[in-house]
Amino acid sequence: LIKPAKRAQLIQPFYVMDLLAQAKTLEAQGRSIIHLEVGEPDFPTPDTIKQEAINAYQQDLTKYTAATGMPELREAISGFYADKFRFSVSPERIIVTPGASGALLLVLASLLNAGDDLLLTDPGYPCNRNFAYLLNVNPVGLPVEAGNDFLPTLDELNQAIEKNPNARTLMLASPSNPTGSVIRRDTLESLAAWAKQHNIALIVDEIYQGITFDTESYCAGSVDADIFIINSFSKYFCMSGWRLGWTVVPEGFVPVLDKLAQNIYLAAPTVAQIAALKAFDKDVIEILEQRRALYQERSEYLYQKLIELGFRIPHKPQGAFYLYADCSEFTQDSYDFCQRLLHEAGVAITPGRDFGDYKQKEYVRLTCANSMENIEQAVERIRDFIS
Ligand SMILES: Cc1ncc(COP(=O)(O)O)c(C=O)c1O
Repeated sequence: LIKPAKRAQLIQPFYVMDLLAQAKTLEAQGRSIIHLEVGEPDFPTPDTIKQEAINAYQQDLTKYTAATGMPELREAISGFYADKFRFSVSPERIIVTPGASGALLLVLASLLNAGDDLLLTDPGYPCNRNFAYLLNVNPVGLPVEAGNDFLPTLDELNQAIEKNPNARTLMLASPSNPTGSVIRRDTLESLAAWAKQHNIALIVDEIYQGITFDTESYCAGSVDADIFIINSFSKYFCMSGWRLGWTVVPEGFVPVLDKLAQNIYLAAPTVAQIAALKAFDKDVIEILEQRRALYQERSEYLYQKLIELGFRIPHKPQGAFYLYADCSEFTQDSYDFCQRLLHEAGVAITPGRDFGDYKQKEYVRLTCANSMENIEQAVERIRDFIS
């Protein structure tokens, strides 16, 4: 009997997918479900971008691009960094990928050997540990506290590398999924200095860059040119289904990633790349900034209401579109809470166990990537449910 490889067996589906399937069944039965579990913008891709894709199709611009991406797009990203984040980076160091997912695969594959340890925050983005399994690498979750901006302290990092001598890489995210926390610049400076001192590669996932609330915006690359940056058109630019992202890597890694990209997927989608050339246009950014303000309004509203209802949110989100809320006032098991909230109240949210082990039974993630009207209604449903 032919069995799937061990690495495939190690990779778990998301628990929220189970909940989504249940939600679909309930919806098919005519129940109204409010979705606060999704991890993508509720807004459509701006028209200017879509129109450019239509033009590209009509002009038959549908052949492969270079594996590293269209030079014009790499230049446009470099220009955007300079304009919006005062981060000056050569387009050569920017590699266009199929989503941040493609960037994560390339960067991790270029850095890690089989048997190495990958240091991750727990909670953190669930796919990271699964990329580790794919590469026969051991994911090491570092339990992180709300009181420390959901980041490991230098002491904890020192302990982690003592316990895991094969640690070669540390992965962080800012703003973070699921916590919405942002890494302060001075904190990143000290983390980057620590990484350098211990010969650890530092990856910072900035996929939610641009979606921040009243906090200093900077790019990790301006702290240290040796940081590997992950980014994407999925979130701020509302292009999740276009499958387009990018990574910024130290110069020496460019040929390595070029080679990997050529072999793993050839190139990112051509029409998406052409369309994305319009993503930095003034009129598009204006629309995206209005949306950013709406996320902030909704996040603030949901934050206040959840607190009123008795959730604890020890770290107020400063970005992304998530709230990571402690529901231990109502339950011993957040997964059970999500199940009951879905079935009894018709609100879908994500259980903490999708993001790691640490305190997973206490936490749930809610997203504010839904209309204010739906969020208000969800709050009423949650109120009725817990009372
Ligand atoms: C932190 C983080 N990184 C990476 C991704 C992958 O995004 P994409 O491949 O759509 O760019 C996501 C998607 O939700 C995410 O939340």
